[in-house]
Amino acid sequence: MEKLVIHGGKQLNGEVVISGAKNAVLPLLAATLLADGKMTIKNVPRLRDVNTTIKLLEGMGVTVSVDDDYNITTDTRSITSYCAPYELVKTMRASILVLGPTLARYGEVEVSLPGGCAIGSRPVNIHLSGLEAMGASISVEEGFIRAKAKRLKGANIVMEKVTVTGTANLLMAAVLAEGVTTLDNAAREPEVTDLANCLNKMGAKISGIDTTSLRIEGVDRLQGVEYTVLPDRIETGTYLAAAAITGGKIKVLNAAPSTLEIVLQKFRDAGALITTSTDWIELDMQERILKSVDITTEPHPGFPTDMQAQFMAMNSCARGISVITENIFENRMMHVAELMRMGANIRLEGNTAIVAGMPDLFGAPVMATDLRASASLILAGLAANGKTIIDRIYHTDRGYEKIEVRLQKLGANIERVNG
Ligand code: UD1
Repeated sequence: MEKLVIHGGKQLNGEVVISGAKNAVLPLLAATLLADGKMTIKNVPRLRDVNTTIKLLEGMGVTVSVDDDYNITTDTRSITSYCAPYELVKTMRASILVLGPTLARYGEVEVSLPGGCAIGSRPVNIHLSGLEAMGASISVEEGFIRAKAKRLKGANIVMEKVTVTGTANLLMAAVLAEGVTTLDNAAREPEVTDLANCLNKMGAKISGIDTTSLRIEGVDRLQGVEYTVLPDRIETGTYLAAAAITGGKIKVLNAAPSTLEIVLQKFRDAGALITTSTDWIELDMQERILKSVDITTEPHPGFPTDMQAQFMAMNSCARGISVITENIFENRMMHVAELMRMGANIRLEGNTAIVAGMPDLFGAPVMATDLRASASLILAGLAANGKTIIDRIYHTDRGYEKIEVRLQKLGANIERVNG
C-alpha cells in the first residue's frame, strides 16, 4: 500500500496552482444526466472521486470522453441503466448525487444506500423526504433506494438540517419538476452556488442563489453546455496552512478568495499576513509567530468542517491554547489520536478539542482515517522534527491532486513510497 514519507522542518515557499473543486465537480457531473445531448465540464481535478463518477456514469450507459486537458464531455443519449451499484457507492458516498437528476429526467432510479462512514452515520433521509414531497414513490429495500415518479411536482420543502448534497440532489430534481419548488434552509456552500449557476446556464430557472431560500421554476428540458468548475477552497486552505505551519510564504493561484472569507480571517488571527486579489491569495508567515485560534465549524458562510483538521494541526504547534468544536459531523476527531502520536497535546471532550500548542512536534508513523484527517497529518509531518510515515493515503488521493509533487515544488521533503 502507498504511503507518504515526510522529513519535516522545511519552510514552504513559492507558488501553487489550485485545481477545480472536488465538491463542485461531483454534482456538476451528476447534473450532466439532465442535459439533452453533450455537455462539457472544464477545470476538472484529477482525483479518484472523479474517476469513480466517470465509472458510475459509464455504468449507466452515458458516453464519457476525457481530453488531454482533462475536460470531461458526457453524452446522455446512450443511457441504458438508471442504477448506481453498491461497488461504486461504497467507495464514494457522493454517488447519491445521481438520485435527483436521474429520477427527474428518466422517471426511475436505483441507488445503493450509502452506509455510515468514518466521520459519522451520514443518513440521506432529507434527500428522500424532499423527493417524496415532490411526488416520488420511494422504497428502501435490499440495501437499495428505489424511486419512481412519472413527473415530479413542485413542492415547498423546508430542509430540517443544512445538507450540501441534499440541497444539490433536490435542486437537480426540482429543475425538471412541474411547477414551482421552494427549498428553505438550503445549503449555500459555494459548490451549491456553482451547481445552481450551471443549471441556469443549461436553461433552468433558479432564483435565490447564494441564499438559504431557493426558488425553482420547473422547465421541460435542459440543454448541454460548457461549464468551468470553481476553484477548490479546501485545497486552497490546506496549502495556505502548509505555509503557515512551516513559517513560509506562499501564493496560491487560480483560487477564489471570496469563498474562503472566514478561513482567511482565521489565518490572520493566527498571525499570518494575508493579501488577496480576485483569483489569488498570498500568505506570509515568515518571521512571524503562529498563534492558536478557536474554531467552531458551521454551515457556510461559517467555518467549514473540511478545514477543521488542518487548523487542529496548526494549533498543535502554535503558541497558546485553543478550543475546536465540530458541529457538522458526530465523529470527525479521529486525527486527534494520530496527532497526539506526534507529540500534540490535545484533550477531547465529545466533539470539542482543547489544544495546548507545543513548541515542537516529532515525526512518527501515523494512519490517515479520512480525507481531511490525512491532510492534517501531512501538515503536522511538514512541521515536525524527523520522519513521519503516513499510511492509508488513498484517502488523500480522493481530494488532493498530486499533493506530494506540489508540496515538493514548495520545498517540502516528501515522497510517495510503496509498501
Ligand atoms: C458535503 C461535502 C463534505 C462536507 C460536508 C459538510 C460533498 C461531496 N461532500 O458532504 O466534504 O464535509 O458537505 O460541509 O460535497 N444529514 C442528515 N440527513 C440527510 C443529510 C445530511 O442528517 O439527509 C446530516 C449529516 O449526517 C451531517 C450534516 O447533515 O451531520 C451535514 O451533512 P451534509 O451537508 O449532507 O454532508 P455531505 O453533503 O454528505
